[in-house]
Amino acid sequence: MAGGLKKGLTSYGDQAFSLFLRKVFIKAAGYSDDALDRPIVGITDTASDFNPCHGNAPQLIEAVRRGVMLAGALPMSFPTISIHESFAHPTSMVLRNLMAMDTEEMIRAQPMDAVVLIGGCDKTMPAQMMAAVSAGIPAIMLPVGPMVVGHHRGEVLGACTDCRRLWGEHRGGRIDAAEMEVIAGRLAPSVGTCMVMGTASTVGSMVEALGLALPGAASAPAVHADRLRIAEATGRVAADLARRGGPSPSELVTPASIANAMAVLQATGGSTNGLVHLAALAGRAGLPLAYALFDRLGRDVPVLVDLKPSGQHYMEHFHHAGGVPRLMREIADALDLTAPTVDGRTLADVVAEAEDVPGQTVIRSRANPVSPEGSMAVLSGNLAPRGAVIKQSAATKGLLQHTGRAVVFDSVDDMAARIDAPDLDVTADDVLVLRNTGPVGAPGMPEAGYLPIPRKLAQQGVKDMVRISDARMSGTAFGTIVLHIAPEAAVGGPLALVRTGDMIRLDTQGRRIDLLVDDAELARRREHWTAPPARPGEKRGYARLYREQVLQADQGCDFRVLRADPDAD
Ligand code: FES
Repeated sequence: MAGGLKKGLTSYGDQAFSLFLRKVFIKAAGYSDDALDRPIVGITDTASDFNPCHGNAPQLIEAVRRGVMLAGALPMSFPTISIHESFAHPTSMVLRNLMAMDTEEMIRAQPMDAVVLIGGCDKTMPAQMMAAVSAGIPAIMLPVGPMVVGHHRGEVLGACTDCRRLWGEHRGGRIDAAEMEVIAGRLAPSVGTCMVMGTASTVGSMVEALGLALPGAASAPAVHADRLRIAEATGRVAADLARRGGPSPSELVTPASIANAMAVLQATGGSTNGLVHLAALAGRAGLPLAYALFDRLGRDVPVLVDLKPSGQHYMEHFHHAGGVPRLMREIADALDLTAPTVDGRTLADVVAEAEDVPGQTVIRSRANPVSPEGSMAVLSGNLAPRGAVIKQSAATKGLLQHTGRAVVFDSVDDMAARIDAPDLDVTADDVLVLRNTGPVGAPGMPEAGYLPIPRKLAQQGVKDMVRISDARMSGTAFGTIVLHIAPEAAVGGPLALVRTGDMIRLDTQGRRIDLLVDDAELARRREHWTAPPARPGEKRGYARLYREQVLQADQGCDFRVLRADPDAD
């Protein structure tokens, strides 16, 4: 197959003319024939003024270009959609699939022999991984890297676990508005992604475990020279991929590498969102995502990374302790080390070269874990026939086995309107239920699963309650929170049938979440249930495509038509 500039010619009905015309236009940019005869490495440019997490993308692109050229290939950067968590309405998750489609199609449409995908802020790397598997050309990922930590009154702070913790203190009346303004300037003190084990750090760590990025790519701080060296090396590897014609991501994303990513997800105390994105990735590769395997790994692989929100430290400390390769050495018995990686080495080679850092306390040993089980447990039961997830490592231990009275909120708006009402009938032993917040319901499965503690309870010092929903939760959040209930309420899942006053039992040990209402009563309630109508904005365009195509959380919320086999269940 033709490579370089000759690849994927525009259709004018005359191939030679198509190539001639392409040369005419690219020569307008001043390229020589020597440059245009080289293999081409595409580089995604996701810099955006609306995405401060990607503020270092221009510098990274420059370093990648250097690496590509040092290795004798031609770098060509091109823009794609960029998504920032806090600048995406209604949620970044709605736009993840749009970014994946854009990235996949622009990789396929333009003549490149390999591609470097520079992403980071939560949904960007998942979108790029999904795109890369579907696009089918050699690819390598380059995270933008985490921010450095912030400081306030002698305390080390990080976005956004501490954003939520301090906001909770503010809601409880313990920090005033003036101090919150000061804190707002200190929680995110550099470009880069959130520096806790939130979604960005989690996905970056999984990308390393999948073999799709170079060692250290997940953890080197965004502003550290290591990050630029990794970028340059990424460019060199990309040039090599372009020349050799592989491996492509679909060769690296296998049952073995998915299981490796699952083990790393459990050991990092990573974000629950990581599981959703992994499910979507598996769907792109035509693989099932086995919830049972993930749960089994969680019973075997403890949380070993002492990072917020499950632990104490931040990503820069993880990096200086050896990062993902060092972590993988600790859990090597749970990994398939024969799995290949993008630069031609196996995972065993990467683990063998992991740095031993004397005295480091961030990556624990199996004998001294942060938490004896993995970060997440998969639940089922009559409330979640297709599964739900709880991040047990960030939960209150005493609430993991709990039965309480449901206090139901029908939507995010309903919750916002009533949660702080002084007359809300609620106690700390109740179970807060939020529904119609799934992939279809909200839409985009917003990170609303971290329901705030009702103000009157927060003021009494209540810091955690059992909360359940079909929503997601930020990877930076914490609490005894059941998420991703599938099927969601908006498509008729059992969560739609819960009423305030029903009893709900959370049995994390037994991996169950159940509504203690008999089947006959549930059948009666179902007869009166009707699906929420489409919202006015969902009648056309991408919003309509999203509503019609989006799958449930256990299938990664991908679009049915984007999976490897759109007709598979
Ligand atoms: Fe971009 Fe957290 S807001 S990674």
